[in-house]
Amino acid sequence: MGLLIKGGEVITVDSRGVADIYIEDEIITGMGKNLEAPPGTEVVDAAGKMVFPGFIDPHVHIYLPFMATFAKDTHETASIAALIGGTTTFIEMCCPSRNDDALAGYQLWKSKAEGQSACDYAFHMSVTKFVGETEAQLREIVEDGTASFKIFLSYKNFFGVDDGEMYQTLELAKRLGVIVTAHCENAELVDRLQRKLLAEGKIDPEWHEPSRPESVEAEGTGRFAAFLENTGAAGYVVHLSCEKALAAALDAKSRRVRIHVEAVVPHLLLDKSYAESPGVEGMKHVMSPPLRAKRNQAVLWDALAKGSIDTVGTDHCPFDTNQKLLGKDSFVSIPNGIPGIEDRVNLLFTYGVKSGRLDLVRFVDAASTRAAKLFGLFPRKGTIAVGSDADLVVYDPNYAGVISAKTQHTNNDYNGFEGMKIAGRPVVVTVRGKVQVRDSQFVGERGRGRMLKRSPGYF
Ligand code: URP
Ligand code: ZN
Ligand code: ZN
Repeated sequence: MGLLIKGGEVITVDSRGVADIYIEDEIITGMGKNLEAPPGTEVVDAAGKMVFPGFIDPHVHIYLPFMATFAKDTHETASIAALIGGTTTFIEMCCPSRNDDALAGYQLWKSKAEGQSACDYAFHMSVTKFVGETEAQLREIVEDGTASFKIFLSYKNFFGVDDGEMYQTLELAKRLGVIVTAHCENAELVDRLQRKLLAEGKIDPEWHEPSRPESVEAEGTGRFAAFLENTGAAGYVVHLSCEKALAAALDAKSRRVRIHVEAVVPHLLLDKSYAESPGVEGMKHVMSPPLRAKRNQAVLWDALAKGSIDTVGTDHCPFDTNQKLLGKDSFVSIPNGIPGIEDRVNLLFTYGVKSGRLDLVRFVDAASTRAAKLFGLFPRKGTIAVGSDADLVVYDPNYAGVISAKTQHTNNDYNGFEGMKIAGRPVVVTVRGKVQVRDSQFVGERGRGRMLKRSPGYF
């Protein structure tokens, strides 16, 4: 049976106007005014609503053994939360630790997602060491359709790689045509600063930011850029948080280094005062790189509006209150992460588009299209066009609501954006032509999501 999305204002990075969209067998097969639909067609009335391409979150953690515990979501809870928030595809960081076998880790992450996700998904494969079998294993993983890597320059002895391993990863990525995403902080400096602060009796969450100051992130970003420049690989800085790190990335860009930049909603909207609250309230806002001084936010928004920050993700990484309390005696033991998969699109629409910081084209680009292009999903995902997957978000730009843990779908007992107003939300969301969200409620098929196979494109 076909599906007709009727009379909405269809907005992509290339065009904007009222149109009907007809879908058959998971794919958009027709677009235009007053489309005739065959008898039996399911019709969604989108009059007065905006219709966006399904949004893509390029950076989430769902299954994640990390900091002596596990992130709280399952692929079922995270994907339902994602869909209610308008995200129809997420790219999860597959993160085996240095002690794990990379290929076994990849199979494990795949098995956690398979048959469980209600939306489509892909992986960035973390390279957390580079040893004898690494090249062969990464080749096999790329062959399997995972055409992007991840490296961590921090989290020493757990996820972190040294400069030699970074070089080997980038050099291989260049040969394979694979883009490398990177968490850019100087591991040695973080380690030394953490030890120094603890020795001074500074154990509370407010010391997390001073243990990873802006210069530590700027150094990591600049070093990653220098390695990209000297290997010719393509790279993507994840969760860039501050002006100094942005300057390092943009300086490299001006030298034609193939570097791209992601911002995440916590850094755009929350500042370090949240993590300076005493006790568990502060712990709830501990992530790395840390929430920064407020002045950085205007710089990030401005770069986002110009497109020099490419994408907006979440770095969704839910740990509940009890897990955060693992850090009650020392800020270095607070599990790092802030959830956001459900709220990213509404926050970006409210505080970006409605506040006049972002135009609608950049909004769609940053939250969907650019990630699809960078990570080998375009034009299957990231646009509304005949032949593309029918992942669509019928969006009510006149909704007014408030974010609250009481109404969220991610598996957590708090929300880092608690109490923030939102001015818009998805009403209907489709995944490959199936209505998964109707009247802003999940009504769909659990386990409908498929792993998206991608081909290398960075030669
Ligand atoms: O604090 C964060 N960002 N937690 C998740 C792991 C990572 O660094 O992305
Ligand atoms: Zn990170
Ligand atoms: Zn992350």
